[in-house]
Formats: sequence, C-alpha cells, structure tokens
Amino acid sequence: MLQHKKILLGVTGSIAAYKAALLVRLFVKAGAEVKVIMTDDAQDFITPLTLATLSKHPVQSNFVADYASGVWSNHVDLGLWADYFIIAPATGNTIAKMAHGQSDNLLTATYLSARCPVFVAPAMDLDMWAHPSTQANIATLTSYGNTIIDVEEGELASGLEGKGRMAEPEHIVAFLSNFEKKNIKSARFAGKKVLISAGPTREAIDPVRFISNHSTGRMGIELAEAFLQQGAQVTLVKGPTTLTADSAIQEVNVSSAQDMFEAVSSHFPTSDITIMAAAVGDYTPVETSATKIKKKDGNLTIELERTKDILKTISASKKGHQLLVGFALETNNELENAQRKLASKNLDLIVLNSLNDKGAGFKHNTNKVTLIDKHNNITNFELKSKEEVAYDILDAIHEMVD
Ligand code: CTP
Repeated sequence: MLQHKKILLGVTGSIAAYKAALLVRLFVKAGAEVKVIMTDDAQDFITPLTLATLSKHPVQSNFVADYASGVWSNHVDLGLWADYFIIAPATGNTIAKMAHGQSDNLLTATYLSARCPVFVAPAMDLDMWAHPSTQANIATLTSYGNTIIDVEEGELASGLEGKGRMAEPEHIVAFLSNFEKKNIKSARFAGKKVLISAGPTREAIDPVRFISNHSTGRMGIELAEAFLQQGAQVTLVKGPTTLTADSAIQEVNVSSAQDMFEAVSSHFPTSDITIMAAAVGDYTPVETSATKIKKKDGNLTIELERTKDILKTISASKKGHQLLVGFALETNNELENAQRKLASKNLDLIVLNSLNDKGAGFKHNTNKVTLIDKHNNITNFELKSKEEVAYDILDAIHEMVD
C-alpha cells in the first residue's frame, strides 16, 4: 500500500529513537521514499548517518544545512514534498511544542507548514504519558486533525512497566498502510446500500449449551469493509464472533438463525446488494430447556428441526434492481452443489469454497474461491488473503451492477 509514497519521518530525542532505523527500513521495504528530520536531541540516541544510509537521503536537522555555501533546509518544501509526515518517536516536549505552535527547530517548523496528513507516535515514561498536560496536548493535536498512533504497554526505559512505549515499527507501518488503503479514492459503490451477513449462528440447547459451527465471520467482515471503503452504505448482520468490523459499518448483532432471519429480512427490502456470507445453522433444537439439562445415565437425544432458509426466503421477494449473492462451502461435488444452490435460491452469484482446498474455508485468513454467476460463467481464483478475495468478489459484483 505504501509503494511510491513519500514519507517524511521526524525523529525526536527519546530512547525509542533507535527504533527509527527499523521504521525507515520497513518503509523503504514497503516501496516508500523516506526522508528524515532529526532534532538535535535525537542525535544523542541514533546517528544521522544510520538513518541517512537506510533512507538513502541526507538527514536534515538544522535550518541552515551548510553555512559556507548558504544552503538551507527549506521546511516549507519538505512539508509540501511529503505525502505523510510521521513523528516517531514523538517526545512529550515535541508534542507540547506542536500543540502550541512553537517552531524553534526544523521538525516543528516543518510540522506547522505541512499540508499532508500528520501522524504522531508518542514515546515517554508512563507518568509523563499519563500527565494531564500531555493528555491535553494529545487532545489538542487530535483536534487539529493529526492522527495519534497510540502508545503501547510494556517495560519502559526507566524500568517501570506501563503505557508509554512507542508503537512497534511493524505496527506503525501497518497503521499507515491501513490508513492509505482506506483513503484510496474509489467510490464505485457510492450510493449503494449493501447488506452482508457474517459469522456463525448459535442454536441454544439450554442456558449453557448451544449448537454452532467454526465460522469466524472474517470473510463477511472483509467484504463489509471493502464495500465501505468503496463508498457503499453497509449493514452487517453478524453472528457471535470476537472479530469486529470498522465502526462506520452499521452492525446488527444476532445469535440464532431465527434472529439472523429477522434482521436480514428487515434490511433486505431497502438494500441494493445482499450477500449471505454467514454460516447459518440449518437445524435448531425443537425445544430449548429453560434450565440446565442435568446428565443422566444413558444417551441423550435432542430433536432438531429445520431453520428457515434465509436466502431462499428473501429471494422470493427480490426486485429487479436487487442483487443477491450466496456462499457455498462444500466438501464434495463442489461445483455441482454450488450450481444447484445458485439455481434453487435464485441467486445472481455464488461464491464456492471447498474444504478440500488447503487454506480455504473456516479458521484461515486465506480463501480459495470459484465464482459462478447466474449465466453459469465460472471463474476460478488462486489462494489469496480473505481481503483480496473480498476485492475479487467486489469486482465481479461491480461488473454485474454496472
Ligand atoms: N443460508 C441461508 N439460510 C440458511 C442456511 C444457509 O440463508 N438457513 C445461506 C448461507 O448463508 C449461504 C447459502 O445459503 O449463503 C448456502 O448455505 P449452505 O449451508 O452451504 O447451503 P444449504 O442450502 O444449507 O445446503 P446444504 O446444507 O445441503 O449444504
């Protein structure tokens, strides 16, 4: 995501400055161009030569770069050059200066003139971090539109334990990559209402036991976030899972197949695109005991009855402009079963994944899918991350609604 991005890294005088070397290395590895500004104090912790070598650009620290020739470091140019300005580590002192518009060094002057998004990764001892003045400065910086990359918890240079460590370089790079991903200006689903179901359902046997499945909801959540990023208004009907989706997604949390049926049915009439990615329980106990079932000698038989088929039910009231997508998780006769489901549930598209493919289905962050549309066009995809699979599905849907 950071390929060809121009990243200006500001390094201030904290022991965490040694991590700036790894940060520069990771940014460069991700394909970004990196320039570094260091404060004088930062140079007590790491040498400019290290960061210049890793970034392949001279490190800048002073307004005047070379007194003899009169060459100076133009903080305005630096600020305009950058796509992102990230101050990591940011000391309490630099944060205070930034919050109050002080510009007594190249770094803070560049901050004042930068027009790009600014990220601040604080690093300090736990009491400095917790101090009301630091917290007030952080709130001020946030109110100015800067993004704070939260401190992490652990052992601090002082020997104390707590919150105050700079976020690990890997986390900072991931944070920026995610920011970049969400900012890609693509609004091909703008104005579209998208309804997605995700996760398992739970069918209660008694107050402590239930029947469920291994679905984590990840595929549905990736789809919801991809649609959100591309301009859609997304409602996510989510069965019980620990995974969470972007807070801009309207979430409806449900438990049983009946709950999911009701939630999906109520949102379906107003949605343009509906995707049932949930692993809905096909059977539920005929009776749910109000009290815990006590064990007895011998076997226990629980009678199960069919739950409603959500897709089949909503597809009966589908209007011409509405697009309906289902999933099929199969173990045998995969293509045949998926084609049968596509037809019997009156779908526009079905996403087939086979449990026979390594890395596909439940519990993996990857998936290998085949898309089959209502005209029986069949497209096979390689094993990919579920995020990438989500974008393949979006591409196919976009072709159908375009
Ligand atoms: N589905 C649904 N309601 C159910 C069961 C499944 O809407 N009660 C949806 C799933 O979300 C999925 C699709 O139907 O999009 C296929 O689900 P699957 O369980 O594989 O298919 P079934 O129709 O239940 O067939 P089978 O159990 O024979 O595999």
